[in-house]
Amino acid sequence: MKKRILTGLKPTGELTLGNYIGAISQMVELSNDENNEVYLFVADLHALTEYQDPSTLRERIKKFIAMYIACGMDPEKVSIYIQSDNEYIPMISWILECNTYYGEASRMIQFKEKSKGKENFTVGLLTYPILMAADILYCDADLVPVGIDQKQHVELARDIAERFNNKYGKTFKLPEPLISKEGIKIKDLKDPSKKMSKSEVNPNGVISLFDSPEIVSKKIMGATTDSENLVYYDEENKPGISNLLNIASVISKRSIDDIANEYKASGYGNFKKYVASLTSNMINDIQGKYNYIINSGKLEEILNKGKENSRKLAYEKMIEMKKKVGLN
Ligand code: TYM
Repeated sequence: MKKRILTGLKPTGELTLGNYIGAISQMVELSNDENNEVYLFVADLHALTEYQDPSTLRERIKKFIAMYIACGMDPEKVSIYIQSDNEYIPMISWILECNTYYGEASRMIQFKEKSKGKENFTVGLLTYPILMAADILYCDADLVPVGIDQKQHVELARDIAERFNNKYGKTFKLPEPLISKEGIKIKDLKDPSKKMSKSEVNPNGVISLFDSPEIVSKKIMGATTDSENLVYYDEENKPGISNLLNIASVISKRSIDDIANEYKASGYGNFKKYVASLTSNMINDIQGKYNYIINSGKLEEILNKGKENSRKLAYEKMIEMKKKVGLN
């Protein structure tokens, strides 16, 4: 039996190097294994938990799809779709909400962080992980590749599934999070104490997959480091250098030790030049493919196929759930 693998990304800003390393690059590897059946979507409903300019959002959803393909997702092998094109998911989400405790949802770290100090935030911010559970459970995903920041949400999906199964009989497979290599979280280049995030206001700390190769190099050369001038991995005391080592290791597919040994005493300038050239070459390559795809006229056909695959599974799961809970 094939393993079903699913993940989504939220179109709240341009895709970043963090998204590429935390989620997309893993998905590409997984989709190249024919024992896997892979689903990748744009989590546009999740984006609405915070205000988005409508025309920017519409444009960005399209850019995400083209970028997925440019990053190496093959639409022949992968079902690529837009979350809001599958109207059964919100119905599934509602039934799951009615099987989730307020305490569980309000304990989620992301909810606490995003609501902290704010008087007005949407209810959607609270129910966000339950919609995410619906995304995962409708298709009985075995594995959910995410960055470490989303692990807790996948674990909640698992808890909700287990509770539902116990109450109504086996309905869902219990999903497992698949955390990217060694659980790396790519950090902001200017402030390596926080993650590189699409919504960050200081663009110098964040590499967008749409940045020109020159800008990418400039941002890496300007990354915050420390004054020791020795390259080795120590996340706590050398977060900036460790972040660059993580980036270089994923892109070059070399081990961190191997890279650190080569650059240990050669000075930060040389090491940064190496990371800058790796990253800007990779992004240049991705952008070449992106420009081809976005102008190819093939996106609609790709999306229709992905949409039908996902709607079929969600419809079946929704009918099963409705029957089990006593609706019809
Ligand atoms: P989002 O859009 O915030 O992030 C998309 C993916 O990228 C990972 N990520 C990172 N990984 C490493 N370093 C970083 N700096 C970094 N920034 C982001 C995230 O962990 C995530 O895997 N809630 C999800 C979207 C979603 C989803 C789902 C995911 C909706 N439904 C169902 C999986 C399954 C989100 O906000 O991702």
